[in-house]
Amino acid sequence: MSRFSKDFIFGTATSSYQIEGAHDKDGRTPSIWDMFCDIPGKVENMENGDVACDHYHLYEKDIEVLKSLGVDSYRFSIAWPRIFPAQGQYNPAGMDFYKKIIKRMKEEGIKPSVTLYHWDLPMWAHELGGWTNRDSVKWFAEFAEKCFEELGDSVHMWITHNEPWCAGFLGYHQGVHAPGHSNMEEALKAVHHILLSHGEAVTLLKEKFGSKTPIGITLNLSPIYPASDSVNDKLAANNADGYSNRWFLDPVLKGSYPADMMNLFSKYVHDYSFIQDGDLEKISTECDFFGINYYARGLVEFSSPSDFLYKYAHSDYAKTGMGWDISPNEFKDLIRRLRKEYTNLPIFITENGAAFPDTVSEDNRVHDFERKEYVEAHISAVADLNDEGMNIAGYYLWSLLDNFEWSFGYDKRFGITYVNFETQERILKDSGRRYAEIIKERNTEH
Ligand code: NOJ
Repeated sequence: MSRFSKDFIFGTATSSYQIEGAHDKDGRTPSIWDMFCDIPGKVENMENGDVACDHYHLYEKDIEVLKSLGVDSYRFSIAWPRIFPAQGQYNPAGMDFYKKIIKRMKEEGIKPSVTLYHWDLPMWAHELGGWTNRDSVKWFAEFAEKCFEELGDSVHMWITHNEPWCAGFLGYHQGVHAPGHSNMEEALKAVHHILLSHGEAVTLLKEKFGSKTPIGITLNLSPIYPASDSVNDKLAANNADGYSNRWFLDPVLKGSYPADMMNLFSKYVHDYSFIQDGDLEKISTECDFFGINYYARGLVEFSSPSDFLYKYAHSDYAKTGMGWDISPNEFKDLIRRLRKEYTNLPIFITENGAAFPDTVSEDNRVHDFERKEYVEAHISAVADLNDEGMNIAGYYLWSLLDNFEWSFGYDKRFGITYVNFETQERILKDSGRRYAEIIKERNTEH
């Protein structure tokens, strides 16, 4: 008997730069990721998204895969530099691609969940300061408005931003994502403007368009645990939680930045004057759902030389191919905490999945037993949580396809569909077959 109600949404997810390729087709101009990939040492094997899964040309084939999986919904993102290749210059040819895929999806009864920003900031915006420039809020609003106008009612739900922690902290503080800067003040400004642009987009959709289409944001959250009961390790865990989770959860869901973290970060900023009157009200504008990407827990210990007094500790949990702890129980802790401390909004798991080193067997199949187990364990955690009344409305598996895993290049495969990057052949992995069964059970048992 399926443990999911018939209106539960099962889906898969991808993002534009990771799968589309066609980097210079139909007027698209470079994004910060095109630039970043060209810097030696930034991406494994100097790989890039020029071709990726060539989804731009092979989308029909990929929608066939979605159909064979039986998913209710597919989450993808819109490449901003296709829509606005230059400042203020709308490019209808870029939008046509998304109209085409939405049309195909609709023909198959698949609901489009659209992410507006999944990290491919146009280079023209970067040259004007990128997310550190407060004007980025206006540029993003212009982009969002065009998407709302052109795709409007055909979209099932809108996600303003995907994982602002990565765009802001990995991109501007740790320097491991585009644009590759290492400056905490810039990072805090970037995060602030990203969050503000989220609030602007929500307001726009609701007030200007009077739209009833659900809109929300997706945060990547990782429940953090101290390596021991010592006071120092607990302090370390608190700081890691502040940096990874609360710095985003608090403004979006409570309308304030956490005071302890403002203190801790203050030695890196001249002042907090980039936070202006009214910003936090805008950032915390009421949304319709809350999106979470969950991959793993974090285990930390005190470290006095580290900036924020913590570092990741050795953990004896089984790991994915990324070296991340397989931790479905901690996923449950995370959701319970969110319900207790933060929100009653419906929750969507907008991403969950795992990379493992896959190989194609002689039978031309991919027997990815570990991924299958990972997915089963996390879907079963969602069912448990819903039994507790946690109101999780949907689950999107990351990812439909093996794709460009950012600074790790193509080596880390997250797909439930194997992609041969030489021939662009797709092979549904065993995990994908299992996912299709889970969805089918839900469909037939109601
Ligand atoms: C989250 C990101 O949204 C996605 O782009 C990435 O590929 C997966 N995590 C796996 O790391």
